[in-house]
Amino acid sequence: MATDNVLEIKNLHTYFYTDGGVIKAVDGVDVELRRGATLGIVGESGSGKSVTSLSVMGLLAGTKGKIADGEILLDGDDIVKLTKEQQRKLRGSKISMIFQEPMTSLNPVMKIGDQVAECVLQHEKISKKEALKKAEDMLRKTGVPRVEHMMKEYPFQLSGGQRQRVMIAMALVCKPEILIADEPTTALDVTIQAQILDLMNQLKKETGTSILFITHDLGVVAEVCDDVAVMYCGRVVERGDVKTIFANPSHPYTKGLLGSIPRLGDAGKELKSIPGNVPNPKYMPKSCKFAPRCPYASEKCREEEPGFFQIEEGHISRCWLCESGQLKTDHVEKAGD
Ligand SMILES: Nc1ncnc2c1ncn2[C@@H]1O[C@H](COP(=O)(O)OP(=O)(O)OP(=O)(O)O)[C@@H](O)[C@H]1O
Ligand SMILES: [Mg+2]
Repeated sequence: MATDNVLEIKNLHTYFYTDGGVIKAVDGVDVELRRGATLGIVGESGSGKSVTSLSVMGLLAGTKGKIADGEILLDGDDIVKLTKEQQRKLRGSKISMIFQEPMTSLNPVMKIGDQVAECVLQHEKISKKEALKKAEDMLRKTGVPRVEHMMKEYPFQLSGGQRQRVMIAMALVCKPEILIADEPTTALDVTIQAQILDLMNQLKKETGTSILFITHDLGVVAEVCDDVAVMYCGRVVERGDVKTIFANPSHPYTKGLLGSIPRLGDAGKELKSIPGNVPNPKYMPKSCKFAPRCPYASEKCREEEPGFFQIEEGHISRCWLCESGQLKTDHVEKAGD
């Protein structure tokens, strides 16, 4: 299949079948990750970002979650249809993931060098010595200090930023086609966060790995992403390349998120937050999911859910206002205004 998309998520529905009812965590998501690019998935807590990434990783087993419908095409092949064993083989070799809190993914009783080497040994038939050499080289690339020493240390002896670098080394040591980074810097302080984002940008350039970057922070999206998909209540509401979305956000939810980014010179000013809360998944409106919080909502928005409207080439928005062309750049509220 001739495509420059390494990953295509098509009409993905991932539901949790709980005792209290069905939770439609991901309810019709379509996104494309271009080869060598970074796609940001952004949205408030509970919008379905992590469930989307767990669906791609085949990591829903052990939860009540199940992919109810849709396709996840990796190089054109649907990985939803693979067996558990085939999915396990993909993890680490073709798709790797780094999580928000590295301590939960690192083995506390295994030395750092052995952990990174173990990732190599799971996918390559080479000697332990060769694997350790690869681990050391990769750790050096991530900029951890005193690599030889750190190889023999345990996770608890490292700082949060160092642990996250180790996670990045583990994720990239097998040269995956896709790296999924789920809030990889949220638990870190801002200086370390900036260093880790720089590192990811640099390694992406070196390795050509495509990245699915999950965050609730549009500021981080601006730093590292080429494209962005904004999620709300299990759906994508706006998609486009980062420059376009920042210059011309068209969905009121995206505008709300942009309004809540602090900017230089805003000291003392109150940050705008989006009023109201994400609806309870059990009582999801049938209409536009954002209508109850939307300052522009009309009767139609409260009755019927819109599809996507094209704003410009490659930029789409799930909003009735875009149909009539009412929501144009001159409506855009600049952050802090
Ligand atoms: N194991 C689970 N069982 C039941 N419901 C779940 C489970 N995991 C997630 N959900 C539900 O799915 C929805 C989406 O959750 P998800 O973790 O994807 O959100 P998120 O966008 O990653 O949020 P955050 O920014 O807080 O990480 C939420 O309503 C959540 O309660
Ligand atoms: Mg999450």
